[in-house]
Amino acid sequence: MTIRNSLFATVAISGLLAVATAGSAHAAGRLNVICSADNEWCEMMETAFELEHDIDVSMVRKSSGEAYAQVRAEAANPKLDVWWAGTGDPHLQAAAEGLTEEYQSPQLGNLNDWAVRQAKNSGNRTVGVYAGALGIGYNNDLLAKKGLPAPKCWEDLKDPAYKGEIQMANPNSSGTSYTALATLVQIFGEEKAFDLLKEMHKNVNQYTKSGSAPIKAAAVGETTIGITFMHDMVAQIKQGANLTVVSPCEGTGYEVGSMSIIKGARNLENAKIWYEFALNPRTQSIAEDAHSYQVPSNKESKIPDGAPRLSELKLIDYDFAKYGDAETRRHLLSRWDDEVKTAPQ
Ligand code: G6P
Repeated sequence: MTIRNSLFATVAISGLLAVATAGSAHAAGRLNVICSADNEWCEMMETAFELEHDIDVSMVRKSSGEAYAQVRAEAANPKLDVWWAGTGDPHLQAAAEGLTEEYQSPQLGNLNDWAVRQAKNSGNRTVGVYAGALGIGYNNDLLAKKGLPAPKCWEDLKDPAYKGEIQMANPNSSGTSYTALATLVQIFGEEKAFDLLKEMHKNVNQYTKSGSAPIKAAAVGETTIGITFMHDMVAQIKQGANLTVVSPCEGTGYEVGSMSIIKGARNLENAKIWYEFALNPRTQSIAEDAHSYQVPSNKESKIPDGAPRLSELKLIDYDFAKYGDAETRRHLLSRWDDEVKTAPQ
């Protein structure tokens, strides 16, 4: 057990032993989980679940786009049972392709509308576990030191003053970045969005694999600006980083972080036990202990202190059905690969 794991265990023991008394069935066995949240939260979920259930969890962490690719690749011979967390779009794409199992939780009635909508849009093949909005984050010290203007809008990011100062993830691997791509297309229309992305590309110093990496890099001064979910910025600020969180002036998109049971799961009953555990307000309420500041899907869960509230932000009417469609995904990503990634810097 690593130091971090033992810390989680302590947190989980204090916060979760109460959960163990909930009278849930103790099913001995195994469970294979692919986790697309940040590592710290993935590990805490595993520890907390194992404390409560006599089920041995084997977990891997992969970004949303990569997890989706793995689920597709293993469709004929599934090795995973549950895909927990990560942006909702690829969960919807997997649902539409029949890669995930229909399951209706008895807790559905306790969830926020946006989480239930995710289930409705997928024929109950996925469900919302949390929500969070995209933003622009910057390192205050670096911005001041370099004498750069403070970005306020998505369009500001094409300013040549930011050359080499912006970091974002690759939308093929990262659900965060796919959400950003889909958000810009919804705000500006496809042509103008790609023009903006090509201009922004000149300012990007790196396309990371994972969605939250850019703001972690900004926190330690490796980039001035990062495009991530706002709650990932809050996590860094809570741990001492000197960052500003910007809600872009044109409005912004958001994710419905989701969960799905894999079609043909070998440990189906245990997958359902995880599913109920993950929707339980007591489980959702300890996310904060793993520096996770999303809005939880269960209305009875505690919203972490500092979590950006969707109702207080200028959100776009994100079209999950359209941008969670597999064909739209293929189209936008191939255009991004052909026109943005390879454009001159
Ligand atoms: C971070 C965020 C999550 C999000 C996830 C997506 O972990 O905290 O809210 O769902 O990124 O990860 P990805 O690497 O696919 O962008």
